[in-house]
Amino acid sequence: MTTLTIMPEGKTIEVAEGTTLLAALLGAEIAIPHKCEGQAKCGSCHIYVQEGRKGLSKIAKLENEKLDAIVGVSSKSRLACQATMLGTESVKIELLGFSSGL
Ligand code: FES
Repeated sequence: MTTLTIMPEGKTIEVAEGTTLLAALLGAEIAIPHKCEGQAKCGSCHIYVQEGRKGLSKIAKLENEKLDAIVGVSSKSRLACQATMLGTESVKIELLGFSSGL
């Protein structure tokens, strides 16, 4: 288990290795859009990773292509449905205050 801190709420939860950020957030009853149900097709689960990028799975082609097509993308951007906690280090993410994707 590693720690996931969710900003701006500042909530911290323990997440098992292999869990996607989306599953972790929904499991903690944190509202995050996920219109395509985790298929990397909508971009609505776009979040920023503030700390611990190495504690997450690498960005695969499908995620990269979707990120290229959505609004407000930065070097910190990930799709919560595609980023998996590796269990190697704690991660801090920021939920966006604007809607992203389709
Ligand atoms: S839920 Fe649609 S891209 Fe993540």
